[in-house]
Amino acid sequence: VFLGLLLLASLSLFAVVKIGALLPLTGGVSAFGDLVKKGIELAWEEKNTVLGEKIEVVYMDTRSEKTEAANGIARLIDKEGVVAVIGEVISGNSIAAGEIAEKKKVPMVSPSSTNSLVTQGKKFVSRVCFIDPLQGTALAEFAAKTLKVKKATVLTDVEQDYSVGLSNYFMERFKKLGGQVLQLQYKSGDQEFSAQLSQALAFGSEAIVVTGYYNEIALVAQQARALGYKGYILTGDGADAPELIKIGGQAVEGIYFSDHFHPDAPVTKRSKLFVDAFVKKYGVKPSTLSALGYDAYMLVLEAIERAKTTKPELIATAIRSIKNFEGATGTITIDSNGNATKDVVILTVKNGQFAFAAKISASALK
Ligand code: PHE
Repeated sequence: VFLGLLLLASLSLFAVVKIGALLPLTGGVSAFGDLVKKGIELAWEEKNTVLGEKIEVVYMDTRSEKTEAANGIARLIDKEGVVAVIGEVISGNSIAAGEIAEKKKVPMVSPSSTNSLVTQGKKFVSRVCFIDPLQGTALAEFAAKTLKVKKATVLTDVEQDYSVGLSNYFMERFKKLGGQVLQLQYKSGDQEFSAQLSQALAFGSEAIVVTGYYNEIALVAQQARALGYKGYILTGDGADAPELIKIGGQAVEGIYFSDHFHPDAPVTKRSKLFVDAFVKKYGVKPSTLSALGYDAYMLVLEAIERAKTTKPELIATAIRSIKNFEGATGTITIDSNGNATKDVVILTVKNGQFAFAAKISASALK
């Protein structure tokens, strides 16, 4: 009897389902990793068993780099034995990690990587967010139609697949709507934007569109305002971390950016529950990335339940068949390419806080 109990005890000890969370916890976009982690941790507190087994989330830092993203996912799969991976956050890293997920036939669900190439041609890589053709189009429509901008300078971070793609989709629609564009380049980590900004001013820009991430967006805003630029500053979802406001201060007041979610504009019953639970746990309202991280985790669990097994290949198939899943960020249907389609929101910075400005429904963007 004693041996039997021992055996049972050790079996139950081993009966954990491991899910990987591949995140930029340090490095250039570490604020993003931290926000996604908060969402996953909350989701895990709500639901930490699946098919009768305990779930363990194994966090892996990518240091915000492509090479580490690829190494990290390999480690999660080969050393940790995870059955699915949530990650990465930024598109370039998800493209790198996705190659490995595909080779090793383990599903990866990105909460937030919006570049088209992330899922293109892949069976094992999916996401719970919209993609940049939609986001870039929404931003262009907002700039041209709502703000009546005719001349825009696009600043592209040439080291980020996300920024390159988003710039292109923005420019395509903005030009179609009659706008004129000057495109200039920078690189992640740049601190000094005066050369680009003086060209933007000379061009007579009514909007400066920075398609990269929060550090550089904040610096561009400060330097542009310091030069006396009075026009609009527009960006994509890459602006969305509290660090944008911490770094940018007064200079980011009034910027507009396209995004996935705002806690004051709940779209599903679950959004509301999520916001309340998040505020209770952390004492602040959730960011977009926390909501997306929450959704990615819950969607992976839903797929495991539907698959009725923790075999990675079958989980991957189940992910692709998910329809009308109620998430915190909206209702999620994973299409045959692994993508979700959701409405775009436009946020602004008002009195040092992110505020809801407008909603652009996906169906209006054809
Ligand atoms: N969409 C960005 C990318 O693909 C990541 C991101 C999403 C950042 C949402 C902030 C908020 O790189």
